[in-house]
Amino acid sequence: MASFITLQLCATLGTTGACAFDNLQELGPICEKERLWLHVDAAYAGTAFICPEFRKWLNGVHYADSIAFNPSKWMMVHFDCTAMWVKNSGSLLRTSNVGPLYLQHENSGT
Ligand SMILES: Cc1ncc(COP(=O)(O)O)c(C=O)c1O
Repeated sequence: MASFITLQLCATLGTTGACAFDNLQELGPICEKERLWLHVDAAYAGTAFICPEFRKWLNGVHYADSIAFNPSKWMMVHFDCTAMWVKNSGSLLRTSNVGPLYLQHENSGT
């Protein structure tokens, strides 16, 4: 029987259908203890956090390893656009970097 190891927890701040919020202050410590990458999906409602009065909904965001929101929703960027912040960009680069020999050049990595 196969066994699986959980690597990531994706919490949503503002689901598209109901604008429901996960509780980062509950989930964050679990991720910290279990060494899970905590991604925060704020694609739909994330733009609202520009306004100080909505920042309370970000409580616990300091636990997040990454957070993304879509300026193409409430910021009227009229084409698909996702902004993503990553706490440790090195981890993401190491995971996503394919670095084939034929794409390497003297300015690689700069
Ligand atoms: C809460 C939420 N997560 C994820 C997505 C997907 O976003 P994207 O268009 O960047 O794939 C959406 C888009 O509607 C969304 O509202």
